[in-house]
Amino acid sequence: MSENVYQIAIDGPSGSGKSTLAKGAAKALNIMYLDTGAMYRTCALCSIKTGVDTRDEEAVKKMLGSMKLEIKFQDGVQHMILNGEDVTGSIRTEEVSKAASNISTWPFVRTAMVEMQRKIAADQSFVVDGRDIGSVVLPNAKYKFFLTASAEARAKRRFLELTQKGDNNQTYEDVLKDIIWRDKQDSERAASPLVKVDDAVEIDTSDIGIEETLDLLLSYIKE
Ligand code: DC
Repeated sequence: MSENVYQIAIDGPSGSGKSTLAKGAAKALNIMYLDTGAMYRTCALCSIKTGVDTRDEEAVKKMLGSMKLEIKFQDGVQHMILNGEDVTGSIRTEEVSKAASNISTWPFVRTAMVEMQRKIAADQSFVVDGRDIGSVVLPNAKYKFFLTASAEARAKRRFLELTQKGDNNQTYEDVLKDIIWRDKQDSERAASPLVKVDDAVEIDTSDIGIEETLDLLLSYIKE
């Protein structure tokens, strides 16, 4: 790795504002952004499209062996290509979110994704966000952040996002229940669970907006 290449790891639970923050940081610092959740989401979408049960280890293994996952960056924007098709616009549904949380519990899925993630972030400076970036993917990242926010604050934001998109299929209580379920699964799984590593700076975003969070992150980096 060249001397000028550095990485920023941002971990945290669903809806803590990681991706908005990571995008903002990458833009401010003029470096690249890798969303690792999108990779697990693409595996999950593949399982949905092919009718594979994410709890069936052998079926998931077979699927992983035959699927082709590519990441293309166009003008700095990450595109997920599944078996030659750009599926970037199809991986943000609640169904995919659930399946992604399930499929990411398999250690062999994680090993394959982590290998790709390390390769991508090796030669250029990157902000990388996920659950295990500071702990497993890039333990030597120059900067590490751990975002938190109460489940209620995260559910409120997600609910607002859905309503703004015109999606009225879920109540606030449904969204909160999903968030609590995903938190539990992402933190309690055996393989690389969501944890705050000792050398990560923790930022609680429950009561602060994205601009303030970004200013805080950039102030740590400039220090
Ligand atoms: O960040 P996200 O909501 O897009 O992630 C989707 C799922 O993928 C999430 O439930 C946990 C999993 N994930 C993971 O296990 N490790 C990562 N580095 C990123 C995401």
